[in-house]
Amino acid sequence: MPLNADLIMFMLVAPALLSVGQDNGDLESYAKIFKTVLSQQDCTLDLHLRSMRDADHNLVQFLLTQQSSAVRVHMGQAVTVAALDASDDALHHFYIFEHVHRMQQQLKMFTNPGGFYILAIEAFAGEEQKSLQHFMEVVWRQLGHNRIYYVQLAGERVLLYNPFTESVVPAEDEHSFERIYSNLYGYPLRAYIFDSVYSALFGDGDTERVTRVTGPDAIAADTVAKHLNFTLNYIWPDDEFFGGRQPNGSYTGGVGRAHRYELDVIFAGFFIKDYLTARIQFSAAVYMDDLCLFVQKAKRIPQSIVPLFAVRVDVWLCFLLVGFACAFVWLCLRGLNLTLDIQCLPEHKHNAADERCISIGWRIFIDTWIVWVRVNVGKFPPYNSERIFLASLCLVSVIFGALLESSLATAYIRPLYYRDTNTLAELDDSNMPIYIKHPAFRDDLFYGHDSQVYRQLNSKMKLVGEGEDRLISMVSKLGGFAGVTRAASLELSDRRYIMTHKVHKIPECPKTYHIGYVLPNPSPYINGINNVLLHILAGGLLQHWISEMKERAQWSIHRYPEYLAELGVQNWKVLTLTDVQLAFYALTIGCILAAFVWCFEFLYK
Ligand SMILES: *[C@@H]1O[C@H](CO)[C@@H](O)[C@H](O)[C@H]1NC(C)=O
Ligand SMILES: *[C@@H]1O[C@H](CO)[C@@H](O)[C@H](O)[C@H]1NC(C)=O
Repeated sequence: MPLNADLIMFMLVAPALLSVGQDNGDLESYAKIFKTVLSQQDCTLDLHLRSMRDADHNLVQFLLTQQSSAVRVHMGQAVTVAALDASDDALHHFYIFEHVHRMQQQLKMFTNPGGFYILAIEAFAGEEQKSLQHFMEVVWRQLGHNRIYYVQLAGERVLLYNPFTESVVPAEDEHSFERIYSNLYGYPLRAYIFDSVYSALFGDGDTERVTRVTGPDAIAADTVAKHLNFTLNYIWPDDEFFGGRQPNGSYTGGVGRAHRYELDVIFAGFFIKDYLTARIQFSAAVYMDDLCLFVQKAKRIPQSIVPLFAVRVDVWLCFLLVGFACAFVWLCLRGLNLTLDIQCLPEHKHNAADERCISIGWRIFIDTWIVWVRVNVGKFPPYNSERIFLASLCLVSVIFGALLESSLATAYIRPLYYRDTNTLAELDDSNMPIYIKHPAFRDDLFYGHDSQVYRQLNSKMKLVGEGEDRLISMVSKLGGFAGVTRAASLELSDRRYIMTHKVHKIPECPKTYHIGYVLPNPSPYINGINNVLLHILAGGLLQHWISEMKERAQWSIHRYPEYLAELGVQNWKVLTLTDVQLAFYALTIGCILAAFVWCFEFLYK
């Protein structure tokens, strides 16, 4: 059949080719409108012609020769619903009718494919204006869209239906359709919002009536509504907020509502990702967020041994090592001084020579440590070189001492904790299970990654039901497992857990997402909404609302007296006896050792 098809195509287009340049003037208005409409998406235009004769119309000729989309011609077939099903992938359709009445009989055919219909009407008498408008209204009410350009072939007029003013408007240029959706004249849009990170909903659960919505998302919704002049008709949310695809193929939550076209827009931020349905779409991305894991904060280091943890182990080791090293350097110096018979300082003359090597060595070792811990050295060494060395040693000891002392002071004032889990690899090593509440996390967080750590973490995830206690409060009280949440919620409602060191967020977050609002696909509102949203974003308003909310969250700790008390304790600390425990322990140990040594000496001497 390809030959046939080519032949038909040629016969159809031939008149157009012959008449190029003749009557372009007439086509001006069609051309401008349909060129942009057809070039908007990568798509196919289905031309449904009744017979060859239809191809004589200027409009049909124009559509056949336009270059922006592929054209498929259906000829002669009775235009039926069956024909439509066969060409599912086509976005735009063209039909030609004798009169409005004929069109009305085919009503069922004009479902919303996401593209446009171009309906050409040959005979159009004045009295048909009424029935045309009626037809437009019915399409809007029953099929839920108005993506139809009505072309009066005789008058060469293109008409559109404006459902918000309930009137027929002439399409003057390619932006006419968008213009209809830039002012909705108070039309009640079915909006959806639920308690999420940046939104909260208040209302009566029994009557399922929404009274108030708050949060940056809700403010954005209000702003969009004001600019597009629609009213927000909030629908009571399902129990499952975000929702998704069920194993049996049905959809729940907001995704399900949008998938079934039960609403017009969801003003709660969704991660922009695949929800396994092509019947929803996202608005422009409005912000970003990370998915992070949190664990119980590590235990506090007990006051009794806090000084040991004031600096890290390597500093302690360095302190000890330098002590020994310096003693060694001093010994070398003395050795050199003695073997090379360097002149010693006058006041030491009498005894420099007659001491034994061992006792000199011991003396030097002790003196080094005396200087090292910043006690005055009793007797200065008898050589200049050694004195200079000693001076440098003093300086180092001052620096070390200052470091130790200041760390100790802060350790007493600010509580110290054992080491927290700071990377995913450490979390993996700790063998903690990861509890999740949203099933979506299961194939979101670690899935499909080739890193070993991710695969192991993936296998540790466990879905838990929504208990009466929140996951984060369970983590803070019980510990022993990790939770997953959005980074922003740890800065907002759950900030008190972080502020009072109950919960620790692992700084390495496995996923970052763009977040957008959700609309059904196709939706005529998307361009208008995106337009306003992008203006809001360009002005930095959403960011402003978000930081305002974070600021409020920080103040809100005043609503939790038990947390507030804990914060207060940390700001002003009065040192007590318990804080100096370690000193007494050291003293006790010293006393006991001394007693042992005394006993030993008493018995064996
Ligand atoms: C917004 O819609 C109302 C009807 O609800 C209408 O009266 C008003 O003129 C519209 N505003 C604009 C700017 O068109
Ligand atoms: C799919 O399962 C859910 C419960 O998980 C049920 O509510 C829904 O009716 C089911 N849908 C179909 C089409 O079976």
